Amino acid sequence: MSEIILLRNREIENLRNYDVYVEHGGFEALKKTLQMDPEDVITEVKDSNLRGRGGAGFPTGVKWNFMPREDVTKYVAVNADESEPGTFKDREIMEENPYQLLEGSLICAYAVGAELVYIYIRGEYWEIAEILDESIERMRAEGLLGQDILGSGFSCDMHVHIGAGAYICGEETALLNSLEGKRGQPRIKPPFPAQSGLYSKPTVVNNVETLANVPWIMEHGADAFKAIGTEGGAGTKIFSVSGCVNKPGNYELPLGITFRELFEIAGGITDGNQVKGILPAGASAAILPATDEILDMPLDYESLKPYGTGLGSASVIVLDETVDMAWAASKMVQFFAHESCGQCTPCREGTYWLERLYERIDHGDLDPEDVERMDSVAAQMQGKCICALGEFAVNPVMATIKHFREDYDAAVAAAQGSGDIPVMPETTPAGD
Ligand SMILES: Cc1cc2nc3c(=O)[nH]c(=O)nc-3n(C[C@H](O)[C@H](O)[C@H](O)COP(=O)(O)O)c2cc1C
Ligand code: SF4
Repeated sequence: MSEIILLRNREIENLRNYDVYVEHGGFEALKKTLQMDPEDVITEVKDSNLRGRGGAGFPTGVKWNFMPREDVTKYVAVNADESEPGTFKDREIMEENPYQLLEGSLICAYAVGAELVYIYIRGEYWEIAEILDESIERMRAEGLLGQDILGSGFSCDMHVHIGAGAYICGEETALLNSLEGKRGQPRIKPPFPAQSGLYSKPTVVNNVETLANVPWIMEHGADAFKAIGTEGGAGTKIFSVSGCVNKPGNYELPLGITFRELFEIAGGITDGNQVKGILPAGASAAILPATDEILDMPLDYESLKPYGTGLGSASVIVLDETVDMAWAASKMVQFFAHESCGQCTPCREGTYWLERLYERIDHGDLDPEDVERMDSVAAQMQGKCICALGEFAVNPVMATIKHFREDYDAAVAAAQGSGDIPVMPETTPAGD
């Protein structure tokens, strides 16, 4: 059996209870850390090769190391926005193992010298926000938050902030703007949050899953963490698997697992069908055709790059042979058109026009030039936007046209009366 670092709630009943968490070693990592020099904590996390679990896979210790050492106000912002379609891993951590996230966030604050931690949680997770609030209150009562934590001289507090349900507020600088009470729109980078973040102060922004790994790393050491996974991705990863599989859900597995193994663990493909396409990271990373090479590829933060895609938050959506990929792309295009913050013209106008073009499939009047137009609109958006959402919106269009052109040709043929108009399902594929 592989090591479980994050979803320990699957093995330990009622782990969200403070006493149960402490009984099972909770806050021992914090106690150990508070005895250490903060520089050594940063070095340990850097050496562990932990990479961000929020999407970009940036090395966590390197990010912490960017923080200035001067004695100025600094913050930690926990990204609990979790809005990527098909991503539901942070939710389980916060619902069932909240203290591990809070402990990891506090260790991060100690390492970088932050006096406040803000947890920015998506609006729909208000019940989970209550769990976090109660857990924070208990930590205050236990002397784990506030002034002079456990007599260490380190003082820090935490607050939960509920967002209003906008996907774009998961982008780290939009998140910071939203926290400040401004419109949730991304900032131009640089400056990066470590230089000028929340209220223009140095800020670390990390994903929930990233920070929940930290207590384990501090307790067991960087080498033990690196011993799990691959060179391109140390540790375990929670794969949120949905779509055409028999047992959708969260699976914590060592990085380096293959799609084929993952699908088997997730109960196999529905109705014994063949996989047709794989979205490795929700709607945002380019879809992959399910070739043997892809199915047997060890999954980490490097292995999918040569295929023009990435592991992202590992929200794997499985699309089988029954799925029309032009339809799947139209759903993703609608999503991005809805979620574009409208700040930059290529993204605002590009997503709008892509949505109009894809509507033609639904209306049965797609002509052959429309497919080239889709490709061309997407190409004109590439590299011209302030944030990555503009790039994400391009992916479903270009990747499905590249790998599944026949589905577009079928829509064109249907519009010309030489084929059936593809039936667009009202709902997403089974299990989603
Ligand atoms: C449009 C968009 C949405 C994002 N949504 C999330 C999100 O919901 N949760 C998250 O942790 N990161 C999200 N990110 C990535 C964050 O900008 C940032 O890279 C991440 O929080 C850094 O944490 P990490 O290094 O621990 O992964 C999003 C990025 C973009 C461009
Ligand atoms: S790329 Fe899109 S979502 Fe990002 S800042 Fe520009 S308009 Fe907003």
